[in-house]
Order: sequence, then structure tokens, then C-alpha cells
Amino acid sequence: MADQDNERLLEHSYDGIQEYDNPMPRWWVITFWATIVFSILYALNVPGIGNGKGRIADYNADMARAMALREKMEPAGVITDSSLALLAGDAAALQLGKQVFETNCAACHRADGGGQIGPNLTDDSWIHGGSPSAIRTTINDGVLAKGMPEWGKILKPDEVSAVAAYVASLLGSNPPNPKAPEGTKTP
Ligand code: HEC
Repeated sequence: MADQDNERLLEHSYDGIQEYDNPMPRWWVITFWATIVFSILYALNVPGIGNGKGRIADYNADMARAMALREKMEPAGVITDSSLALLAGDAAALQLGKQVFETNCAACHRADGGGQIGPNLTDDSWIHGGSPSAIRTTINDGVLAKGMPEWGKILKPDEVSAVAAYVASLLGSNPPNPKAPEGTKTP
């Protein structure tokens, strides 16, 4: 064994086996340190420095883009009282609305809409307005603070419209043992 080889031998010997002190190649070491530097910069999130500002801004921009797209797909103004009234005259839409209601709403508003955790939906008193479009808006946006879920995020727009038309059609159905009226009377 040549002398220079002996110099490279490490002290320890396991079962008579010794190893050379082989340094990692330079390119490997440089890459290794570069990943550490990168991770620090990434944590600081250049150029957003400070609590990941850049990533939050990115997320907000993405959300704004998605909301703009959604706005385009269901333009405001297309859904009106009269379009919902038309829907209420459509047996298939009303059937879909009834089905959506029984699946998602009955737990809080009772299957007949008489009210339980949520208000009675069959009387002419409304907390958030009783026109078909106001009802649709309440269903779509929810009243999160009061425990009414934001159905626009759960149901498809068609289903929200159908269930709004169905709720509007419940007016005056007089189910037994209704919950007392809440809100104001709407003519
Ligand atoms: C987890 C319980 C819960 C579920 C499920 C629920 N709601 Fe509600 N809902 C409420 C509560 C509570 C309110 C009262 C909000 C308030 O006091 O402002 C409410 C209010 C409403 C209102 C407004 C009533 C008014 O007087 O203005 C409508 C309309 C309505 N819900 C429809 C629906 C429909 C349609 C569904 C199913 C897609 C549904 N809700 C599912 C709890 C619920």
C-alpha cells in the first residue's frame, strides 16, 4: 500500500476492515449548502419577507382569480324574483328543491319547514327577507354567526335556486306545531 494511501486511512478498524477518508465531491458539498441557504430564504419567503407574506399574497391572488371566474359563470342579476317564480312553476325543479331540502335542511328546519333549530320557513315572517331572491341569498350566503350554513359552498348554484324556489313555495302550508314567527312580516 502506497504511503499516500496510508495517510487517507481512517483510524478505526472494524473486524480488520479500515476505510479511506474520502471527502465528498465539491459539487456535492456546494449543492448541500445551497439547499440549506435556499431553505432559509424560502422560510423567509423572499420577496415577501415576514410571516410568509409572499405566499399569502399568492393565495389571495389565486382566490380572487377563482372568484372572478365564478362570478362569470353565474353572473349576478340572472337570478331574479321572477326567474325563481318561474322555477317554482317547474315540477322538476320543485322536485329537486324538495329533495335538496329533505337531505340538507330538514335537520334544522324540519322536513315540513315548520322550524326547529332554524326558523319556520312556511310563515310570512322573515329575518332576512321573504322575496324569493332574498331567500336564495340567505341560503347561498348562510348566516354563519347564527348556525345557518353557507350552502353556496356546498350545493350547486342550480340546487340553491331550486331549494329557494321550493322554500318560497312552502309559504302558507301551515304545518302542525310550527315554530313561532321570527323576524318581520313580509307582505
Ligand atoms: C345547522 C342548522 C341549519 C341547517 C342545516 C339549515 N339551516 Fe337555514 N337557518 C338556520 C338558522 C339557525 C337560521 C336563522 C338565522 C338567523 O337567525 O339569522 C336559518 C335561517 C334560514 C333562512 C332565513 C329565514 C328567515 O327568517 O329569514 C332560510 C331561508 C333558510 N335558513 C333556509 C335553509 C335551507 C334551504 C337549508 C338547506 C339547504 C337550510 N336552511 C339548512 C339553521 C340551519
